[in-house]
Amino acid sequence: MSAPSLSDRRLLDAAVAAALLLQLIPVVAGTQGRSNTSDFDVRPGGMVHSFSQSLGEFSCTFTYAAQGGTNEQWQISVGISEDNGLFSCSIWRPQGKSYLFFTQFKAEVKGAKIEYGMAYSTAAVGGRSDIPLKDEEFQVIETAVMHKEGKFRSELSKVLIIAKMYHMEL
Ligand SMILES: *[C@@H]1O[C@H](CO)[C@@H](O)[C@H](O)[C@H]1NC(C)=O
Repeated sequence: MSAPSLSDRRLLDAAVAAALLLQLIPVVAGTQGRSNTSDFDVRPGGMVHSFSQSLGEFSCTFTYAAQGGTNEQWQISVGISEDNGLFSCSIWRPQGKSYLFFTQFKAEVKGAKIEYGMAYSTAAVGGRSDIPLKDEEFQVIETAVMHKEGKFRSELSKVLIIAKMYHMEL
């Protein structure tokens, strides 16, 4: 396994993400806060499809179009950490790698502003690590992580968003 060469920005992003993820561990472990996870099918065929997952007033919507292959089972999970006002959304293929050819994607949150967003061509599984898309392939705006037209190389297996909630819903 070779270490990816990381830009300074990405190192900083990784540090921020690690810190935010540490705060989210209790949510994921179900000891604090709440979460909502579902399986859904990612369907090729070139049409634009959406799948939304919500938790109270917060929601995360994954919109995509893909070609080739057959339906793949993916998961989407949203979590709230009431202690620190964070909302998380992860969308991924549990097998780690999608074999579909994505022409577009967008993961959008409602009720929260993105602090950290990342998209991956391969998701961590069985000791291997996540492989992020190149910086130029995607963009992170206030409420969405999405492909960049003409730059995205069509491989996607995971999207991660950590967002700050506008106000607490207790
Ligand atoms: C979990 O998400 C689904 C799909 O958006 C929604 O129908 C359901 O109400 C959510 N559950 C909770 C506890 O919010």
